[in-house]
Amino acid sequence: MKAVRFATPGSPSEVLTTGIIEQPRPAYGEVLVRMLAAPVNPSDLMFIRGHYTIPAQCPATPGFEGVGVVEDSGGGLKGRLFRGKRVVVLNKKGGNWAEYAVVPAGQVIPISGSLSLEQAATFFVNPATAWVMTREVLKVPQGAWLLQTAAGSALGRMIIRLGKHSGFRTLNVVRRSSTAEELRRLGADHVEVFDDSSDPAAFMDRIRTVVGPEGLKYAVDAVGGETGSAVIRSLGLDGRMLAFGTLSGQPLQFSPRALMTVESRVEGFWLGNFMNKTSLLFKLGLVRKLTNLIQSGVLSSEIAQTFSLDDVRHAVKSAEDSSKLGKTLLKIAE
Ligand SMILES: NC(=O)c1ccc[n+]([C@@H]2O[C@H](COP(=O)([O-])OP(=O)(O)OC[C@H]3O[C@@H](n4cnc5c(N)ncnc54)[C@H](OP(=O)(O)O)[C@@H]3O)[C@@H](O)[C@H]2O)c1
Repeated sequence: MKAVRFATPGSPSEVLTTGIIEQPRPAYGEVLVRMLAAPVNPSDLMFIRGHYTIPAQCPATPGFEGVGVVEDSGGGLKGRLFRGKRVVVLNKKGGNWAEYAVVPAGQVIPISGSLSLEQAATFFVNPATAWVMTREVLKVPQGAWLLQTAAGSALGRMIIRLGKHSGFRTLNVVRRSSTAEELRRLGADHVEVFDDSSDPAAFMDRIRTVVGPEGLKYAVDAVGGETGSAVIRSLGLDGRMLAFGTLSGQPLQFSPRALMTVESRVEGFWLGNFMNKTSLLFKLGLVRKLTNLIQSGVLSSEIAQTFSLDDVRHAVKSAEDSSKLGKTLLKIAE
């Protein structure tokens, strides 16, 4: 089968190759999925660079998310039930950037035939993270402010639309003023620019002015470094911030006093861990909610460009291009 591979971690546009490798076979409890499409997510790029939580067993095939059709199973009830179904493939070890992938049957989710290939390929990781962080973990109340960094990202845009849909207000932090107007048109309630030349103290003052005397209670940060650290120092009494990404590649730095005096909390969030702790009933309910919210456009993904497996180096370059609008997709089969 055709698959994307890398022999050693490194810059994605330099280390990835597309070639023919042996097709994997499903063991008991696993399914063989014929892959149709897969997005290029920041986690895939970090995995290829060797910076992700899960280390690659090289030579390795990237791809944590995607959509495909179950062609075969190594046995087991779920595998038999899923045969022939179109499924979302949540490949915890990576491996979706190939014509076939083998995963445990518990890592595929049958999805509605009414979703387009593009929405099916991007069905879970970002939509579920947007929903779970804001509605299940922080439970941001109606009318309250939620601050988010990297607000121009695909996930950030979903959170803006979810705020409009669910009734919370979004305070959006971006690194370039050119993104600000676009996010306002999308429904952002307030946009702040924070870049390398920004003064953190002035930023914190502006945040306080926007959210009012109660202070900032809810925040989600995908950037880390100076930006995430300034957000932590902006938290008000009982404030909570979820750290869920490391886009700057820089650590968070703050004095314990920033937390102490207002009894604020900084917590890590990883969707995989959250989902491992949930019941089957919760998972089924979540899939239903996400399907509805994607179909109504609240949690849908914009696709910037589509590439074939053979063109993977251009695909990863496009995904890392900050002027792109939306997700880069690898289209593997019709
Ligand atoms: N923890 C979890 O379970 C989980 C799950 C899903 C996603 N995530 C994380 O969520 C984040 C967004 O994912 P995505 O798929 O929406 O990404 P994406 O669409 O590829 O967007 C990334 C965007 O973030 C902005 N950005 C990049 N580097 C930045 C920096 N140093 N400072 C500020 N902004 C920066 C850029 O927007 P501009 O060019 O407009 O500035 C860039 O286009 C990623 O960090 C991802 O790893 C985490």
